[in-house]
Amino acid sequence: MPDWPAWLTVLLLATNLLSLVALFFVTRRMLKLRRQKKRAFTFSEYPVRKVKLEEVAPCFEMTRYGPSPDSEVRFIGGEGVVASLSDRESWVMAALSKNVKRVFEFGTCSGKTAHVFAQNAAPDSEIFTLTLHPDDLAATEFGLGDDKEHRDIAVAESSFETFYYNGQASEKHIRQIFSDSKSYDEESLRGSVDLIFVDGAHTRSYVESDTRKALNMLTDDGVILWHDYKPDAPDVFAFLNELSKTLPLMHIADTDLVMYRRVKES
Ligand SMILES: C[S@@+](CC[C@H](N)C(=O)[O-])C[C@H]1O[C@@H](n2cnc3c(N)ncnc32)[C@H](O)[C@@H]1O
Repeated sequence: MPDWPAWLTVLLLATNLLSLVALFFVTRRMLKLRRQKKRAFTFSEYPVRKVKLEEVAPCFEMTRYGPSPDSEVRFIGGEGVVASLSDRESWVMAALSKNVKRVFEFGTCSGKTAHVFAQNAAPDSEIFTLTLHPDDLAATEFGLGDDKEHRDIAVAESSFETFYYNGQASEKHIRQIFSDSKSYDEESLRGSVDLIFVDGAHTRSYVESDTRKALNMLTDDGVILWHDYKPDAPDVFAFLNELSKTLPLMHIADTDLVMYRRVKES
């Protein structure tokens, strides 16, 4: 039998090793896609209690003709808007902000929602909206366990330095804050914000930190809303499922919004 040349052994070992590495990455990718697909098409109930609009606020009471005129809002559709809310979500948020004095939004993006808040809130309202400046991306402090896909999305969406409301009447109500949300000190707004929208980085450590700050800023009877309660945003989904064990959260039907209304202690 002829001698087995050493180079052939090395070549075989190298190709086997490369095949194993490729198999590892392909399997990992396939498992991830399968997990995402399963989550996206789940028919089981989500853990946060789902509620109809009528339960969300009295302005959504149904009449025989449809929603009450109390739910009428000033509104712009989401067509062509980056990271937009659905039209139903915008309507709900706008109706909840009617006549409210102070709103705080984590995550401005295009600024369309900040504009809609300002168009519906009280005439002397202040709308605080916080976002990461595109020149400040290095300021982020992602945690080790943060979902990689949503880390990348948070960075990609931090591309705005001018906003939808610029040059509009709404602008005089809007207080734009450029900051990484973990570095933002909310102390000056403690207990003074009526409506808070948590829609910044959709990773575990950020949604947890933003929620802690939101609870500090909230008035005694204020409302917090979170966006992207869905299995495709796994860190937000898991965090809100856990939070619902200690706070009475509601998942608003046919939206990705979760709401908490603080009840004044008597
Ligand atoms: C989903 S978009 C917000 C959409 C917006 N609320 C709306 O309704 O149009 C997420 C926003 O969070 C901001 N963001 C991401 N990471 C952040 C961070 N670490 N600190 C502050 N803002 C952040 C992004 O710049 C982006 O503007």
